[in-house]
Amino acid sequence: MIPLAEMAEAVLRTADGREKTALSRRFAADWQAARDRGETPQIGRADPPVHPARPAAPELLSPRDVPRRRPGTPEGRIALLHAVAHIELNAVDLHWDIIARFAHVKMPMGFYDDWVKAADEESKHFNLMCDCLEELGSHYGALPAHAGMWRAAEDTVDDFMGRLAVVPMVLEARGLDVTPGMIEIFRKAKSTSAVAALETIYAEEVSHVAYGSKWFHFLCGRHEEDPKERFHALVRTYFHGALKPPFNEEKRAEAGIPPDFYWPLADGA
Ligand SMILES: [Fe+2]
Ligand SMILES: [Fe+2]
Repeated sequence: MIPLAEMAEAVLRTADGREKTALSRRFAADWQAARDRGETPQIGRADPPVHPARPAAPELLSPRDVPRRRPGTPEGRIALLHAVAHIELNAVDLHWDIIARFAHVKMPMGFYDDWVKAADEESKHFNLMCDCLEELGSHYGALPAHAGMWRAAEDTVDDFMGRLAVVPMVLEARGLDVTPGMIEIFRKAKSTSAVAALETIYAEEVSHVAYGSKWFHFLCGRHEEDPKERFHALVRTYFHGALKPPFNEEKRAEAGIPPDFYWPLADGA
């Protein structure tokens, strides 16, 4: 088995979505099997690209140029699934990137176990969204997608705690806020496979936010810093704009993010 950081880099350098997720899932299975045998695999070092490899389609547009479609229409629902597929593909790369990018920082094995598991789940989520799109006669790449998704990774390319604050604890926590509304849209449209897929995503995303909170607190403890103050400072530095209520306070609590972390950063606070 190659060192984990090299696995991460190989995923980041694979362009096609289905190929990227297949490789990601294979590496995650190899890692898990080694851990189940009681091994402590090598982390190693890597040279991850600034931007992960991506397929030729979808075309990436600035968010304001991505056409808005009403979710009450079949086209609108396809656009919504396509947007989620795009988020999931970015998430696959984000989780492998945190492993490769910060491989030089000494962390407990549990840190790698968590992000490998998260990357594996994101790979499954991307495939689920692709399956739903294909069932509706579309596919990932058929519509334009947001260009700005890698911004958070670029902004925090040399700030490990900034990465944890912005990616799992802000962006993925936002997913917990908005996914129930999305599930409702597909429930009303009687799209049973989309409902099932989004429910899987919703359930598994809680743990990704929790991993973020866990390892953010761990690093604060290592550096003797106050977690809430550090979180606020990092989000104000790296996240562009205010956080948008309403918040899913229950799921955020389950993921280890208390209200005094996000409310002071909210719109109008
Ligand atoms: Fe996901
Ligand atoms: Fe996630």
